[in-house]
Amino acid sequence: MKSLKLGKSNILSSRIVYGCMRIIGDNSIDSRKKGKQAIRTAIEEGYTHFDHADIYGGGKCEELFSEILGENPEVRDKIIITSKCGIRDKNNPNENDPARYDFSKEYIVKSVEGSLSRLKVEYLDLLLLHRPDYLCNPEEVSEVFQELQDSGKVLNFGVSNFQPSQVSMLQSYCPFPLLVNQVEINIHNINALLDGTLDQCQELKITPQAWCPIGGVVYPAWGNTFSKEDEVRIKSEFDNQSKKYNAENWIVMLAWLLKHPSMILPIIGTTTPSRIKAAKQALEIDYSREDWYRLLEARNGYPVP
Ligand SMILES: NC(=O)c1ccc[n+]([C@@H]2O[C@H](COP(=O)([O-])OP(=O)(O)OC[C@H]3O[C@@H](n4cnc5c(N)ncnc54)[C@H](OP(=O)(O)O)[C@@H]3O)[C@@H](O)[C@H]2O)c1
Repeated sequence: MKSLKLGKSNILSSRIVYGCMRIIGDNSIDSRKKGKQAIRTAIEEGYTHFDHADIYGGGKCEELFSEILGENPEVRDKIIITSKCGIRDKNNPNENDPARYDFSKEYIVKSVEGSLSRLKVEYLDLLLLHRPDYLCNPEEVSEVFQELQDSGKVLNFGVSNFQPSQVSMLQSYCPFPLLVNQVEINIHNINALLDGTLDQCQELKITPQAWCPIGGVVYPAWGNTFSKEDEVRIKSEFDNQSKKYNAENWIVMLAWLLKHPSMILPIIGTTTPSRIKAAKQALEIDYSREDWYRLLEARNGYPVP
């Protein structure tokens, strides 16, 4: 497995991250077993970075992951554990409460304590603010980050789904560099290419992470706007490239993401062991500039002007 340094730090992450959002499936015994096997496979295959959030499976994904760490205590210090906070899920703290974004000091600390106790670890390598809280007080966030770092509970910080202006604003208050901005990037959602997110990552040396990286290839991406005609055109280009590179379409998609000079870290979420292994094939593809543009044009439905 190839690796890269996260943001301005010296922390080495595997070049593909394993996302733990789906590891409990429907929380049945069988799907939990499948989820544990997926994590074991990811560790065996050299993935060293695992992405969580306090809300994944209502906390059950972090709990399941702790079972693996319990069985293999030597693994903890060899991997990066990321978790996220800032989305107060519905029914929290009271039944029928709606979901809200919450970057208050009280909520961030409570969320980190919860993640540490579910994961049964002493520290998180990386904590991300999950989605922008419009009522964010950056001084308060910076203060709580500092306290969490001083206490050794969180080593590094980053953000997720932040617009460039929101990153700049928060960074201007934080005494240490934000390491990542985790956003949706896939063949359907290329906003990060267009709204300055990837430019800013390159400018400030922030590592972009792509969630749902194969959305729009093997399943419809969030808020799908592709027509049938779009899908046929895009699939046809994927099929051509699939033959050329001798790799399945979704692996070509990963290669497309990896090609970008901002050094996008795709976060894969498959729970199928053979796919966890196969994703690494994308790292071996010598993906051409020409094919990158061909896929972009197939996606857009028009040539570059
Ligand atoms: N920050 C955020 O707001 C945010 C939001 C969403 C997700 N995330 C993070 O991003 C991670 C990845 O997201 P994701 O799980 O949506 O990633 P993904 O890798 O795009 O999608 C994984 C899904 O695709 C299926 N799949 C994979 N290959 C397939 C194939 N060849 N044919 C059919 N189905 C296939 C998998 O099914 P199988 O399991 O059956 O293989 C799984 O259901 C999450 O785990 C989470 O850590 C972050």
